[in-house]
Amino acid sequence: MKEPKKLKEVAVHAAVDAGRLVKANLKNTRTIEFKGVIDLVTEMDRASEDLIIGRLRSVFPDIGILTEERDELPSASKYRWIIDPLDGTTNYAHGFPFFCISIALEENQKVILGVVYDPNFDELFVAEKGKGAFLNGERITPSTTSHVSDALLATGFPYDIRTSKRNNIEEFSRFALMARAVRRPGSAVLDLCYVACGRSDGFWELKLQPWDMAAGSFIVTEAGGIVTSLGGETFDLSDKEILASNGKIHQTMVDVLKSSKR
Ligand code: IPD
Ligand code: CA
Ligand code: CA
Repeated sequence: MKEPKKLKEVAVHAAVDAGRLVKANLKNTRTIEFKGVIDLVTEMDRASEDLIIGRLRSVFPDIGILTEERDELPSASKYRWIIDPLDGTTNYAHGFPFFCISIALEENQKVILGVVYDPNFDELFVAEKGKGAFLNGERITPSTTSHVSDALLATGFPYDIRTSKRNNIEEFSRFALMARAVRRPGSAVLDLCYVACGRSDGFWELKLQPWDMAAGSFIVTEAGGIVTSLGGETFDLSDKEILASNGKIHQTMVDVLKSSKR
């Protein structure tokens, strides 16, 4: 059994230092490569990943790592880190200051720690299994909004939006007409943290990867919110989709998502 305090401390320092590094380089010339037609990766995605992996490996060399920009580092340990070294890369590449660093830790395939750092607002979201969720040390809870008509929702669109019919446009249109407003902030991880702390009431997205959801979904759950598949079934990180809410508007959101053609 690893020392939980040490795991948290190392993850927090790695996320904060990586966040400061990427923020400090926001205005500098950046190398931008294309992973797909509209799917970008910058040199700072890789620099952040190198920093985080270096830190985690120097203290916990036997823990495996699943991270976005390189092949998985497998291990026999019951623990595994899941890292998004820069969530919101499109925003970042355009100098749009809404992005974050995300680190989750699994034990026996269940997330037990979530750490998210937003360097633009200097906001650190942390949740540990059974201990609740915190923003800069203050406990957070989801909103109490009970009707979608009063709700601020968030979502995102997949990178194959131009070529796939399953592109979230219909779902977005429906909620845009029902909710007070729907945002597309551009960082799924922060979108989840915003549900956790009550800044938005619900978030859904499809075609996400485990690193987009691991820390943020756990922070929502620990804050007291609900996380499921789009159809309301048990959430699984490998399912590539997520619906997170304050709980009160969850069933209505499930009904809308189920009735959209997917
Ligand atoms: C993306 C962001 C975006 C979401 C995309 C993700 P990345 O992650 O979270 O909000 O809509 O689906 O892939 O590529 O910036 O790490
Ligand atoms: Ca991401
Ligand atoms: Ca990323």
